[in-house]
Amino acid sequence: MPYRLAFLLAAMLLLAACAEDPSPRPAAPDDDAVPDSVQARVEQTIAAIDAMRSQLAATIEDEQVDAETFARVCKPVGMRAQEVNQQTDWTVQQLAVRYRNPANAPDSLAAIAHERFETDPALTDYWIEATRDGQAGMRYFRRITVEASCLACHGAEDDRPAFVQANYPEDRAYGFDAGDLRGVYAAFVPAASH
Ligand code: HEC
Repeated sequence: MPYRLAFLLAAMLLLAACAEDPSPRPAAPDDDAVPDSVQARVEQTIAAIDAMRSQLAATIEDEQVDAETFARVCKPVGMRAQEVNQQTDWTVQQLAVRYRNPANAPDSLAAIAHERFETDPALTDYWIEATRDGQAGMRYFRRITVEASCLACHGAEDDRPAFVQANYPEDRAYGFDAGDLRGVYAAFVPAASH
């Protein structure tokens, strides 16, 4: 009798264990060109760049907003993107239809991303398959939103700091309101990235 009881108990335990820990199913096929782990790192890196600018811009007080303010608020974003581009095989840019620096004008896929973010306010970011210079990979786009603190330099045309008016003759990056779409972070990640 004790043997039968022990056997019964063991069988019940085994059943319970099986119910809790089903044998591993094959992982869902991941047919993206870039592994999920790399995608997650790209997303985190760009989110950190965005948070950095937001935090820096929030430090602007009732000061004279000049080139020095730019050097500590918006400029570090471009520098951080360049740093990432040197340390990885990714290409991270910030592009805008209404650009300040013409070097930040969008390519065709980034222009489509801009359009999508403009028409769908709930869309924050997305990935698509893409090739660049014959290299297979994926592109990642994330919206850049205007905050009240950005208006010190991206607000009304006449309110732009003197250094902006002097240095950016082709400037289109003014006249925004808080909440507007400012541009897109755009990354290209080659399929070989790991
Ligand atoms: C102190 C002035 C200043 C502030 C504040 C500022 N920016 Fe800028 N921003 C600039 C300048 C100048 C450029 C051009 C940089 C260059 O030469 O590449 C620029 C460029 C950009 C670009 C690159 C695309 C383009 O138009 O060339 C983006 C995106 C951008 N700013 C977003 C923001 C956001 C979002 C905020 C607020 C969180 C902000 N900026 C706050 C001065 C500023």
